[in-house]
Amino acid sequence: MANDAFHLNDISVATLLERQSLKWRRYEPDVIPLWVADMDFPVAPCVQRVMEKSTAKGDYGYALRDGDQPAMAASKAFACRMEQKFGWRVDPADTLVINDLVQALFASVIAFTDPGDAVAMQTPIYPPFRDAVRDTGRRIVANPMPDDGRRFVIDAKDLAERLDGNVKLLFLCNPHNPTGRVLERAELEKLAQLAAEKDLIVISDEIHSDIIFDGRRHIPFASISDEAASRTVTLTSATKSYGFAGLRCGVVHFGSKSLKQRFEARIHPRLLGTPGVTGIDATVAAWTSGEPWFAGALDHLQSNRDELIATIGRDLPEVKVRSPEATYLAWLDFSALDLTETPYDFFLNKARVALSPGAAFDPACERFARLNFATTRPILAEALARMVRAVRGRS
Ligand SMILES: Cc1ncc(COP(=O)(O)O)c(C=O)c1O
Repeated sequence: MANDAFHLNDISVATLLERQSLKWRRYEPDVIPLWVADMDFPVAPCVQRVMEKSTAKGDYGYALRDGDQPAMAASKAFACRMEQKFGWRVDPADTLVINDLVQALFASVIAFTDPGDAVAMQTPIYPPFRDAVRDTGRRIVANPMPDDGRRFVIDAKDLAERLDGNVKLLFLCNPHNPTGRVLERAELEKLAQLAAEKDLIVISDEIHSDIIFDGRRHIPFASISDEAASRTVTLTSATKSYGFAGLRCGVVHFGSKSLKQRFEARIHPRLLGTPGVTGIDATVAAWTSGEPWFAGALDHLQSNRDELIATIGRDLPEVKVRSPEATYLAWLDFSALDLTETPYDFFLNKARVALSPGAAFDPACERFARLNFATTRPILAEALARMVRAVRGRS
């Protein structure tokens, strides 16, 4: 088991149920919730400290940070972080600090396409990618990710064939939710080439880019080349890796000035508002001082992932899973179990474990479910034991 210097295993079910969290309050208290992508751990001490600093002083007025708008502190922390972590140099002036990334997905569709245009994306995919296209009157062009026998991969040939003149935007999710793939340079270069050939704007959601296992490296899409950067909008935030989604804060980076101008011509930045100062303070704290905590969290997540994959291999061999290269999410294929209901319903009803239903990520994936393993080892072990019992106890 991973080292637990930050006591990630110490939090109890009773404490988690006391939180007013979506994850723990959506279902009845006997259900183990392994669904929405939130972590169960206590937050990093540096994040907790900045929250306590504000609450202790009741410091809730319009704010100033380092003599400037608070958003600038987040933009600067983002720029430092990208250079330190990925060797990617960015100018804080090319960013917008917003509330959340789903907001940026919707805003990008409205800014860069017209009703009736199409947006391509690799499927299955995080459900708001689909919503942002469908709910704004645009069309989804699905580029399914086949399993090559080892892992899910990008099918560039299929994508090229689907890119007709109506497709104006490519949504990229890297690392990919729900398959847990970390796209490699050759894959990104191929996508960059296609984007250039078809003159696409690329919206690259890199929110999971810290949570990478086995020493792999994340490559920001915009860092592939100047040409790729010039057509890329990168979305990221600290909320996923540091577990404070409720505080709300995200960063949008535009790879060229003209891209930012084009975006702002349709979506005035004032329409997006700015995040509350708690989200900004937490983001700056996480990105500047959170690395020791995060290293422990990553270790814990990788160890949970290994336990999950080993348990499935040993006790649920009919369930097909590819070990996630990134994210704390596992994409499970239950087709071979021939369940009479969806895996989501089966495990909720028979095991009292809440997963995310596969069809939300792709209508063709009804026999799949996504499992969030960002919890304590005892909770994960109990959930897996319940799932194994439910499967083995089927009549
Ligand atoms: C790929 C991806 N993008 C965006 C989000 C949500 O980000 P936000 O809460 O900032 O909208 C998630 C949450 O799970 C995600 O997995």
